[in-house]
Amino acid sequence: MNVIKAKDYEDLSKKAAIFIAARMVQNPRCVLGFATGSTPEGTYSELAALNAAGVVDFSEVTTFNLDEYYGLPGDHPQSYRYFMNEKLFSLVNMRSENINLPDGMAADPAGDCADYERRIREAGGVGLQLLGIGRNGHIGFNEPGGEFSRETCLVELTEDTKAANARFFGADETVPERAITMGIGTIMRAGEILLIANGSNKLEILDKMINGPVTPTVPASVLQLHNNVTVIYCD
Ligand code: PGA
Repeated sequence: MNVIKAKDYEDLSKKAAIFIAARMVQNPRCVLGFATGSTPEGTYSELAALNAAGVVDFSEVTTFNLDEYYGLPGDHPQSYRYFMNEKLFSLVNMRSENINLPDGMAADPAGDCADYERRIREAGGVGLQLLGIGRNGHIGFNEPGGEFSRETCLVELTEDTKAANARFFGADETVPERAITMGIGTIMRAGEILLIANGSNKLEILDKMINGPVTPTVPASVLQLHNNVTVIYCD
């Protein structure tokens, strides 16, 4: 693993955006895997600035997001589709038909998950997958204890994850119990992975991910088995 310490959150965001931008310059038709959460917000804002400056072009890029809450429609302010539209897609020249997220309202989640995997395959696979990491070591919504071979599926969120994400929801709203997420198996098939982590509260789990045993109890530890992973973090 290539581990890079950034000076601060702004530096982390710039470095991550430049990293992604470089792949877009290398291959304007690249397939990017995107993540939500507070950590990538700065990265998306920097990418939008690079797009506005004419440095990167999203017109031929295809994206697949990691996950989506189950039970939230795409126009719900807490849905990940809404987040991505607000933070990136509406700010850059992405073509809407090239944007892919799991459908939080899928009537047949199993069928929708299989279809998501098929769409990723048909696009040629994810070239670069951006990831955050949860305090419990989750990547996407792959919570501790899940199987490493799992593909896109409907999962139950842990109490820890619901508590961590409650900050995005209003006092009168409850965090959904379930989500659709790319599985660890899906994530591991990406050609390259960029994981970003911000803040001292992520240092302990980062250490376990990088130096600890590879175990489903720390889902992100599986990345030790991927041959092209870069971690950019700041404390
Ligand atoms: P955060 O979430 O960026 O809001 O810390 C990361 C994650 O849970 O994957």
